[in-house]
Amino acid sequence: MKRIATIAEMKAACRQVARTGKTLGFVATMGALHEGHLSLVRASESRCDVTAVSIFVNPLQFGPAEDLDKYPRTLERDAALLEQLGADFLFMPGVEEMYPQGAQTYVLVEELSNKLDGASRPGHFRGVATVVAKLFEIVRPDFAFFGQKDAAQVAVLRKLANDLDMDVEIVVCPIVRERDGLAMSSRNAYLTSEQRQQALVLHRSLLRVQTAVEQGEHDSAKLIEIGKQAITEEAGARLDYFAIVDPDTLDSVADVSRGALVAVAAYVGATRLIDNILVTASPQ
Ligand code: PAF
Repeated sequence: MKRIATIAEMKAACRQVARTGKTLGFVATMGALHEGHLSLVRASESRCDVTAVSIFVNPLQFGPAEDLDKYPRTLERDAALLEQLGADFLFMPGVEEMYPQGAQTYVLVEELSNKLDGASRPGHFRGVATVVAKLFEIVRPDFAFFGQKDAAQVAVLRKLANDLDMDVEIVVCPIVRERDGLAMSSRNAYLTSEQRQQALVLHRSLLRVQTAVEQGEHDSAKLIEIGKQAITEEAGARLDYFAIVDPDTLDSVADVSRGALVAVAAYVGATRLIDNILVTASPQ
């Protein structure tokens, strides 16, 4: 695996792949890799001739009171995991390389950026869209792999690629969970063992909603109440949002008969966690 730190070198390597007619898959990450990330790398490797991974903790997507400084940075371990998996390129630019002094261009997917996590984290999706637009231009991948766990991010990035006529197919891979159901996240590293137990309430709340849907409840307002109630039962968790929306527009849907994204965000201690499921109501 080739490690690359400059934009010029990464562009040259990726353009060379394109010249040889090979397909290029791309996995953008902020490092602290876990099985969720590795599943994206495997998906890329099974679909593409060449796989590039980026590790860049993007300051632009963190709010002033968020965890930029303490975000886990485990570069050597991450590089070893990617090497083992057989990734071809690891792009690991510094902040100055990505945002040189004087940079003043941002990418904003206007409406979607204010929904779900965007409502709770102002500016977050502007930061995500800006860095991903830059990474897409540097790598120009044929396929880019993202995790369903970040469902709002997926909606924003699909719209970005579509609105800017980018020649990249966004591939969404399933959420990878621990054996007890906790969705894998780099932020799980912040949890104490007690909080780790409390964090299971996110998945539990989604399962309760899924069961209610399977039993015939399709009214979103009632399903949201069921989900919120489950979160209230765990004293260690504080709800940020519980929402039932269209997965593309992130607009609320009144009932789930045509399928919907059920998404939850909650704080466990100081750590904000997210999780979601896609529900499809079976015909009555
Ligand atoms: O999902 C992430 O880890 C980040 O938001 C991404 C897509 C790598 C952009 O910094």
